[in-house]
Amino acid sequence: MRVRYLGHSAVEIQGSKTIYIDPFLSGNPVAAVKPEAIRSADLVLVTHDHEDHLGDAAPIAKQTGATLVATHEIAVRLEQEAGIKAEGMNMGGTLSFGKAKVHMVHALHTAYATHPVGFVLELDGKTIYHLGDTALFGDMRLYAEFWRFDLAFVPIGDRYTMGPVSAAKAVEFLRPKKVVPIHYNTFPLIEQDPKRFADLVGRTAETVILAPGESLEL
Ligand code: NI
Ligand code: MN
Repeated sequence: MRVRYLGHSAVEIQGSKTIYIDPFLSGNPVAAVKPEAIRSADLVLVTHDHEDHLGDAAPIAKQTGATLVATHEIAVRLEQEAGIKAEGMNMGGTLSFGKAKVHMVHALHTAYATHPVGFVLELDGKTIYHLGDTALFGDMRLYAEFWRFDLAFVPIGDRYTMGPVSAAKAVEFLRPKKVVPIHYNTFPLIEQDPKRFADLVGRTAETVILAPGESLEL
């Protein structure tokens, strides 16, 4: 499975299914791809309706025929307004798409409408947690009892999400094998040195710092 960081919180997962999470590409100064270049996708997951997460999710779902997955309220609105295929769900729930499983989990953040979330994805024997935008919360320890994370995408930008110190604590709670820092250096307001985060994580997990466009194999 190949996992590519597209910049900010946007990621592309290519295994037996092609999945995009929070594809904010137009208007994203560090985006690695243009939304028009995405021609095939099975699922588009959206953590919340802030512009830097909802981004190009609807146009990508429309042009690829992918199913958009979000909280019920966002799914209903986009299905009506954008004419796309959407599946609504809520925190605590799981949706299966063939062999892929999408679990919607808690995130501690705000949004225009409905509650922000994170996603735990099970695909091809791997478990990936995209935290979305969130503060640190103690139930991350509980998630580590439920799942063995092969990879976690953790926001480190501070101001709107965890900063490096709380993000490193999140890694201690979650105990993923690998962690990729996200949601930093897109704009001046969220400037961070990812190496500082890597130092704080230490040997708790393997920190993989990906520049937008770079990928890793799982
Ligand atoms: Ni947000
Ligand atoms: Mn954000």
